[in-house]
Amino acid sequence: MTPLFVANWKMNKGLAEAREFAAEFSKVFKSASVPDAGIAPVLSCLPQLQESLGQQKGLLLGSQNVHWEESGAHTGEISVPMLKELGAEFAIVGHSERREFYGETDQAVAKRTSAALAGGLTAIVCVGETQSQFEAKQTEQVVSKQLKASLAGVSTEDNSKLVIAYEPVWAIGTGLAATPEIAQNVHQLIRSELEGLIGKDGAVEMRILYGGSTKPGNIAELMAKPDVNGALVGGASLEAESFNSLIEAGRAAG
Ligand code: 13P
Repeated sequence: MTPLFVANWKMNKGLAEAREFAAEFSKVFKSASVPDAGIAPVLSCLPQLQESLGQQKGLLLGSQNVHWEESGAHTGEISVPMLKELGAEFAIVGHSERREFYGETDQAVAKRTSAALAGGLTAIVCVGETQSQFEAKQTEQVVSKQLKASLAGVSTEDNSKLVIAYEPVWAIGTGLAATPEIAQNVHQLIRSELEGLIGKDGAVEMRILYGGSTKPGNIAELMAKPDVNGALVGGASLEAESFNSLIEAGRAAG
């Protein structure tokens, strides 16, 4: 299975910084015949990145969110056709920061996911427990529930562009990544839940990314686990050199 390493820039980098990143990244990034890397910038930078990195083979550009309607009275949202016009190929859906700070529900995540897939975008659906849920040993229960509810509209046929990201909230931006063992246990649970939701074939093929304080120095041990198929990267993706080193270390270990 081809791994996938995706940069989630969150609300970082305006045009000038994005341009600077692209100039450095294009010098070091080694293209791949099958896409295995991606960047989700702030949307205002997508055309700029499209122009400077759009020709890089193996690199996908995408969005941090997507709405289920094509257009209408949805202030602050963007639709699948609008993203496709910008050259986006994927959308991150249900990130914990959206769930925690902007009231994103599993039901909304399910609608976003279905719309992205129906429109031909790759949907990277995020799940993960909070610190208190982790401490209360509720990880399995929380992740299973989020997964089932977030994939409510995904059919057994329409899932070739689905990607799952396990991001424990306590590991995001803390410098404290999940151990490879913890990640593997939860990824294994996700894969077995996926079997019931979309069938065995889809589940076996599904890329399950890990996210939370990944860096060039810890990606190899995470990728050594059989059910870790890539990473969703925050802080370490903001410097071209560091994101590229993570991709290279991840590729070598995957
Ligand atoms: P960090 O890599 O900064 O912990 O962020 C992870 C994340 O939230 C990616 O979506």
